[in-house]
Amino acid sequence: MIVAASDHAGLPLKRAVLGHLASKGIDAEDLGTFDESSVDYPDFAHRLAARVAAGDGAVGILICGTGIGMSMAANRHRGVRAALCHDAYTAEMARRHNDANVLCMGARVLGPGVAEQIVDVFLSTPFEGGRHARRVGKIELEEAR
Ligand code: RB5
Repeated sequence: MIVAASDHAGLPLKRAVLGHLASKGIDAEDLGTFDESSVDYPDFAHRLAARVAAGDGAVGILICGTGIGMSMAANRHRGVRAALCHDAYTAEMARRHNDANVLCMGARVLGPGVAEQIVDVFLSTPFEGGRHARRVGKIELEEAR
């Protein structure tokens, strides 16, 4: 399952991304925000990250103005690995090496064409595992000690 959320700044790009996914027959649940009124990005990052952290295999897409605040807030959740991606390369590496389960993007940084390419790469690239699994395991603090 794909879940998506944005603040007001990310709303236009989230709509474009959801439309892109729908055109490919990919279902995604929109967790808000739903209109242009000003909201606080952590509220939506935490709502989405809680879903991903619940462990049912959901993959998240978070969009704010820069993607920075969304990634900071989402990464406070245990088991959430949110990656701020700017291009197809960072999206591919976020999956192959970091097993990212939340994609963060900046609507004031990216045009819709690049964002849609990022989403496609992120959703289709598998985690490599191996040595990267050990490293990803060490991201959680108690496992790194
Ligand atoms: C909202 O103006 C903006 O601060 C927010 O969308 C995001 O860029 C924060 O990281």
